[in-house]
Amino acid sequence: MIGFLAFVSAIPASAPATLKDAFKGSFLIGAAVSASITAGADDRDAAIVKAQFNSISPENELKWERIHPQPGRYNFDPADRYVNFGEKNHMFIVGHCLVWHNQTPAWVFRDDKGNFVDREVLLERMYDHIRTVVGRYKSRIQSWDVVNEALDEDGTLRQSPWLKIIGPDYIAKAFQFAHEADPAAILNYNDYNLENETKRNGAVKLIRDLQAQGIPVSVVGLQGHLHLTWPSADVEDATIAAFAALGVKVAITELDIDALPPATRKQTADVTLSVQARAELNPYAAGLPASVQEALAKRYADLFGVFLKHRDAVTRVTFWGVTDGDSWLNNWPVKGRTSYPLLFDRSGQPKPAFEAVVREAIQ
Ligand code: G3I
Repeated sequence: MIGFLAFVSAIPASAPATLKDAFKGSFLIGAAVSASITAGADDRDAAIVKAQFNSISPENELKWERIHPQPGRYNFDPADRYVNFGEKNHMFIVGHCLVWHNQTPAWVFRDDKGNFVDREVLLERMYDHIRTVVGRYKSRIQSWDVVNEALDEDGTLRQSPWLKIIGPDYIAKAFQFAHEADPAAILNYNDYNLENETKRNGAVKLIRDLQAQGIPVSVVGLQGHLHLTWPSADVEDATIAAFAALGVKVAITELDIDALPPATRKQTADVTLSVQARAELNPYAAGLPASVQEALAKRYADLFGVFLKHRDAVTRVTFWGVTDGDSWLNNWPVKGRTSYPLLFDRSGQPKPAFEAVVREAIQ
C-alpha cells in the first residue's frame, strides 16, 4: 500500500510552493509572530513568515499586561514594531486581544486600597484602553479579537472579573468601544473549544444576542487548538456551519494540532492549567516517529478539507506560531515537552503536514 507520505510527496512540480499562494482565492493564511520576529532578532522565522503567510497575529505583544502594564502607562514599542512589520510586508494585521480574563494586570480591577472597583470605573478603564490601543492603530490593524474566551465549557458566561464587576453587557460594550475607535475594523469574538457542542450553543446564543442589539460582531474566531483525534472533521464542519448560519464570518485564529499524549482529560486551552512533567507525557523528545508524522499530515489535510468546503464563510486560517520550536505547546500544560503541532519543523523546514495542506488546496 502506498503510504500517505508517498502520496503527498507526489505534488506536481507546478504546484504553488507557498501556503499563501495555495489558498489565494479561498482565505488568508496567517501566523502568530513573536516579538523577536518583528524586532529583527529571528531572521530565519521572519523569512518563513514573509514567504508563506499574508496575515499576522501578535502572540503576546498586544495583550493588556504587555501594552498597558500600569495605569496610564502604555508600552507601544513592541506593538509598533509588530504593526510596522505587517505593513512593510503588505499583510492583513490582526490585533489580539482587547478584553480577556488572562494576562490582564490586577490593577485593572482594583482601587488604591485593593478593593474591586465598581461597574462605572471598570467601564471607564475598558473604554480608555480600547480607545487608546485601537485608536493608535486605526486603519492599520484591520481586525481585532475584541473579547477573548468569555465562555465556560457549559456555554454560560465565564465568571471573570469583567462579568462580575460590569455584568453581561461588558461584551457588547467592548464591541461598541472598539467600533467607535475604528469603525472600519473587523471585530471578532474569539474562543477555544467551540467544537464542544454545549459551549458552541452558548456562543451561538451570545452572537445572536449581540446581533439583536445591533452590536457589530462580524467574525467568530475558532482558536483551533486541536488534537490528533479531536474534534472529528464532521464536528469541525458542523461548528463552522453553525456560525456561518448566523451570517457572521469564521476565522480559524490559533491553529495547532497537538500530537503528544493528552496531559489532562479536560479538553481545554486554558493557559493557567499546569500539569507535572512525567516521562510518558513526552515520548518524542528524540524525534517524531514516521507513523505519527503521517497521522499529523493526514489530520491537517482533513481539517483543511473542511476549511476549504466552507471557503465562503472562512476568511482566514492562522497558525499559532511558525515552527514547532516556537509553539506554546512545548510548555503547556506540561513544561519542557517536545511538541510537533505546526507545519514547519525545528530547523525551519516544511514538514509532511505542509505538503499535505498544499496538496489539499490544489486538488
Ligand atoms: O517573555 C517572558 C520572559 O521574559 C520571562 O522570563 C518568562 C518567564 O515565565 O516569561 C515570558 O513570558 C511568557 C510569554 O508567553 C512568552 O513566552 C509568559 O510567561 C507566558 O504566560 C506567555 O504565554 C502566552 C500565553 O498565551 C499567555 O499570554 C503564550 O506565549 C501564548 O502562545 C498564549 O496564547 C494564547 C492566546 O493568547 C489565547 N488563546 C490561547 C493561546 C495559547 O495559550
